[in-house]
Amino acid sequence: MLLAANWKMNKTPTEARAFVREYLVALPRDVKTPTVILPPFPALTVLAEELEDVPPEKVSFGAQNLHNEVKGAFTGEVSASMLKDCGCRWATVGHSERRRIFGEQNEFLNKKLRAALSQNLTPIYCIGETLEEREAGKLEEILVTQLTEGFEGLSSASVERTVIAYEPVWAIGTGKTATPEQAQEAHAFVRRTLADKLQVNARKMEILYGGSVTPENAYSLLSQKDIDGALVGGASLKVDSLLSLLAASDRVLQEKK
Ligand code: 13P
Repeated sequence: MLLAANWKMNKTPTEARAFVREYLVALPRDVKTPTVILPPFPALTVLAEELEDVPPEKVSFGAQNLHNEVKGAFTGEVSASMLKDCGCRWATVGHSERRRIFGEQNEFLNKKLRAALSQNLTPIYCIGETLEEREAGKLEEILVTQLTEGFEGLSSASVERTVIAYEPVWAIGTGKTATPEQAQEAHAFVRRTLADKLQVNARKMEILYGGSVTPENAYSLLSQKDIDGALVGGASLKVDSLLSLLAASDRVLQEKK
């Protein structure tokens, strides 16, 4: 199980520091679910300082995006080695906001996945369908394409080092969550696709759900067999709310997984 907090374009470095301090004070000693914080770039070094003595099994941090090139004339971009040097362990790749607002496509995301893996960053590769795609019966086709094109040419070992986040676009920031059944069905399909089309040991991989996860719905989503954690936007911005999500995840771990 994994709880990833995607802060998107929220929190200054000062706010990030205050959040992490408060979170660490309140974090239960016997917590089982690791938290991954994904702040905006300027807060990364602040998190490195604040989490220096915290075991990564409890709290670690990573980036929301990266560029595939190693260095050079790419104004405004950040490379994998820069993130690594900041202490990042994770790099989000292909969030639907990157796909939709910034036009990032699977072929480009494939390069970003390679860049992240080359620096031993664990990619969190985001996939998911829009409402139109779902309604047109294209859910499975979209997921297969995002997975096969995103991972094109990567070894099984590399794919297995990646965490997948299934985030139906229509559920992101809308308050419309997929039902636990809808989410489970999509997650099971993703796992089957990973095994069948990419020949990896998919049972070993973590598949997170994202899209309007809240303290109220987290338990029912996380209890599903193929849901291995959550990638959370809005509900990760307040300490109390993130702690409630963590408690829901730990409860699921204790009960069944
Ligand atoms: P919300 O939790 O705000 O719907 O955002 C989901 C998301 O995009 C996480 O990456």
